[in-house]
Amino acid sequence: MPVSLCPALELFLDLLRCPRCRARLRPDLGALRCPASHTFDLARHGYVGLLTGTRATSGDDAAMVRARDRFLATGTYEPIRQAVARLAADAVPEQGTVVDVGCGTGYYLAGVLDQLPGARGLGLDTSVRALRSAARVHERAAAATWDVFRPFPLADGMADAVLDVFAPRNPTEFHRILRPSGRLVVVRPTGRHLAELRGRGPAVVTVDPAKEQRLQQALAPFFEATTTERVEYVTSLTSPKALDLVGMTPSARHLGPADLHADGFLPDQVTVSVLATAYRPLAGARAC
Ligand SMILES: C[S@@+](CC[C@H](N)C(=O)[O-])C[C@H]1O[C@@H](n2cnc3c(N)ncnc32)[C@H](O)[C@@H]1O
Ligand SMILES: [Zn+2]
Repeated sequence: MPVSLCPALELFLDLLRCPRCRARLRPDLGALRCPASHTFDLARHGYVGLLTGTRATSGDDAAMVRARDRFLATGTYEPIRQAVARLAADAVPEQGTVVDVGCGTGYYLAGVLDQLPGARGLGLDTSVRALRSAARVHERAAAATWDVFRPFPLADGMADAVLDVFAPRNPTEFHRILRPSGRLVVVRPTGRHLAELRGRGPAVVTVDPAKEQRLQQALAPFFEATTTERVEYVTSLTSPKALDLVGMTPSARHLGPADLHADGFLPDQVTVSVLATAYRPLAGARAC
């Protein structure tokens, strides 16, 4: 039996575009198809595979996604989720549209949709394992495989809010898909984020101090910051929570079980420190 189109994805049919020819897509026998017969399979887990051909080189693997799911379920990042929801809700009208790029398990998208009872959401990510969770995270959240570095399979000006939480960015495409009244919400770590985890081993990933400047430079031709919230607090870590916090980062790939379980390797508390900024799109901005 062909996989049927889930209701959340149906809400997006008017806004999705064929990645190959930009035509509209229609459901047809377990797939979405354009008039030129370019075909994109619906996964039985509820997302649509729009990313075909060459595989993206980045994206979280199954172990990282499981760790992220468990960690986020503890509520430790709830203050970040609330900040994202506040910043996005300001820009999204009652029947508005939210796109979460590099959505992972869809935790932040669900938080925004909870605040906006009439809105629809779409999560994009390269990781099919993450999208299995994202496709189920909220009844109004759809999910699709996509690589942020390629032109998005979405209509111009379709989004009231674009979320980018700890994820790669594509300012040109963010600008193209946002309505003039829309907002881009970007969350990124400050130099203090998870500082206690650093220095615990040479492999634990650090925050590059020049990253903030690079972000502002990359966004400047397209966006102007309107509001920034600093979210910073210290939270206690049980051992499983600490293991998941490391496990959901790329650091996990470099650390063996012996490192992780060594006495005193993982701290019992950690600083969470991020900046969440809402950006307004600049009129007339163009890709160089
Ligand atoms: C640090 S995680 C953040 C996930 C989610 N926003 C969150 O905070 O829970 C980064 C996410 O970006 C995704 N990702 C990495 N490279 C990507 C790409 N080129 N295009 C789309 N998603 C990508 C990963 O699979 C992962 O889900
Ligand atoms: Zn097509």
